[in-house]
Amino acid sequence: MTGDQLQSDWSERQLELGNVPQAVLLRNLPSGVNGLLDQWHRALLRWSLAPLARAPETWIADLGCGYGRIASEAAHMGFSNVIGLDYEAGFCRQYQLDHGLAVRGSIAQPPFAADSLSAAYTITALMYVGLDEAAKGMETLDASLRPGARVLLLEAGSEFNRISRMVLRRKRMQSLAVSGFSHAELHGILPAGWRAIATGSNAAATLLLPLLLLTRRWPRVFDALSAVALRLDRPRPGLHDRGWRRFGLHRWVLCEKPISAS
Ligand SMILES: C[S@@+](CC[C@H](N)C(=O)[O-])C[C@H]1O[C@@H](n2cnc3c(N)ncnc32)[C@H](O)[C@@H]1O
Repeated sequence: MTGDQLQSDWSERQLELGNVPQAVLLRNLPSGVNGLLDQWHRALLRWSLAPLARAPETWIADLGCGYGRIASEAAHMGFSNVIGLDYEAGFCRQYQLDHGLAVRGSIAQPPFAADSLSAAYTITALMYVGLDEAAKGMETLDASLRPGARVLLLEAGSEFNRISRMVLRRKRMQSLAVSGFSHAELHGILPAGWRAIATGSNAAATLLLPLLLLTRRWPRVFDALSAVALRLDRPRPGLHDRGWRRFGLHRWVLCEKPISAS
């Protein structure tokens, strides 16, 4: 599928669903399950940006920002200079209303000034541009990052997607259901020199998905299962996306740009 087609599919989705979590999470999942994904994304962002919280004026780029679902978490942490980048106009408009600054442009060419950002994150956005463009985008981003900057990349896991497409025919047909990245692909788009300080996935929530779907009408059971999933998938230092954890719906890597070029 071409980039133009994907962009117009995003505009169609924004027009159809508006600026709500279902528009930027998994549209076919019930809101409770999307709520669990949302909580996990927020916990991961808090954990990743925690070392910067003593410098709340620092500039952070929200790449493929959507309407600002995750920017609200960064604002909650006290960061006052979070800038969105997305090519979809309706999302950018909402982001500007709620969070101040959003640029309409492509994440394959992040347009930020040299040496201006202390952190950047993508939450399920890079996977829409494909591997080569994603790698070029990260290379361009690198020039805008200050030494020691943190970058969180969270994308769909291609291993899980491959299996789910064998089972769910409907998923194969959806235009915005791209296949995501494997461990090697996600690491392959990192510019030379970036250090991966932690990796992980939401494999526990993914494994519990059938039970979560079955129990969503019993809030106590659903909440207890969600708590187990959040605990097992919590971000930790080190590399935790190997073995069974490869099969998460989403995987992530937290990187650091070196303080000095070696
Ligand atoms: C799944 S949504 C995630 C939005 C947001 N990161 C969140 O988690 O709430 C993917 C977003 O990426 C944006 N996007 C996809 N490809 C893009 C590109 N090449 N340049 C800019 N934005 C893009 C879409 O418009 C959409 O807002």
